[in-house]
Amino acid sequence: MLIDNHNREVNYLRLAVTDRCNLRCNYCMPAEGIQFSENDNLLTIEEMKRLAQILVSNGVSKIRITGGEPFARKNIMELLRFLSELDDLKSISITTNATLIKPYINELYELGIRHINVSLDALDEDRFFKITRRNSFQIVKRNLFTLIEKGFNVRVNCVVLEGQNVDEIISFVKLTEHGNVCVRFLEEMPFNGGNKTFTKLKWDYKRIFQHIETEFPLIKQLPVERSSTASLYKVPGWKGSFGLIPSFSRTFCGTCNRLRVSANGDVITCLYANAYTNLRTILRENKSDSLIMQSVLDAVANRVANGHEAELRSKSIFKNSMTSIGG
Ligand code: 5AD
Ligand code: SF4
Repeated sequence: MLIDNHNREVNYLRLAVTDRCNLRCNYCMPAEGIQFSENDNLLTIEEMKRLAQILVSNGVSKIRITGGEPFARKNIMELLRFLSELDDLKSISITTNATLIKPYINELYELGIRHINVSLDALDEDRFFKITRRNSFQIVKRNLFTLIEKGFNVRVNCVVLEGQNVDEIISFVKLTEHGNVCVRFLEEMPFNGGNKTFTKLKWDYKRIFQHIETEFPLIKQLPVERSSTASLYKVPGWKGSFGLIPSFSRTFCGTCNRLRVSANGDVITCLYANAYTNLRTILRENKSDSLIMQSVLDAVANRVANGHEAELRSKSIFKNSMTSIGG
């Protein structure tokens, strides 16, 4: 079992398999993109397999594959096939923009991978283009509905963007009337490659909640796991649910069970902290599993208590982009 210096169990790895993405969401990167990692600096599929195996032997029971866009990574299925064979790994999930997932949907299901988070911030095609700077709305919509129909456990991640999509919040909630889906509203964070910073948020989780409650006064709160970052709700009688994620307010750090490894091997123990160490070199130096694990243990033993503390301690953290942090 991995226990951090604040007595929190760390059993959830978020592994970014690439920092590249075929979209250019304006809250994530500038239009021209960011300086992506050189290919040689990305962990190879073999290195990711080994790292995952070491961590699973040491208490990680849940892995989420993130990016960039995971399906933009060559041979991603090879990694997923390997992970699906790890007995002690209880849950594999993926966060995707759903533009490239179609050819993989059946195999994902066969591998037993059922938890898919789809990032979608607009239900209107023009709006989608303005936010993502790409023309993929119809593809995403089709793939999203296919995933729901096939019985995946689908969550839609919608980043609430002042002046861009707040007028769609209610329509997003209405997706849960007939759809077996959980729509989660995320507070915007200033991790966009440095093209916009802010210290206060107009649309924080409280305001989003009030906005939804005004329209649906009968909403009921649902129970969630202790380590959950989301609070969940339901309109009584509706098929799906919706949630709020205070990603900028950071109210959930006390039960944080997450460890992030970026596509180039950075070990990130808090979204708002600079990387603690990088594993790429030691993974390439023919070191033993226990030495690699020791590096992870050092990182876990030196976590900040919460994201606010991390922000104070971290240098130029808001120049980062979510696509290199890994979401
Ligand atoms: N603020 C909030 N959420 C973000 N994401 C990406 N960038 C940001 C940001 N700046 C979201 C993605 C994805 C999730 C992992 O994080 O849309 O759904
Ligand atoms: Fe790509 Fe996700 Fe960043 Fe959008 S938010 S550009 S889909 S990595």
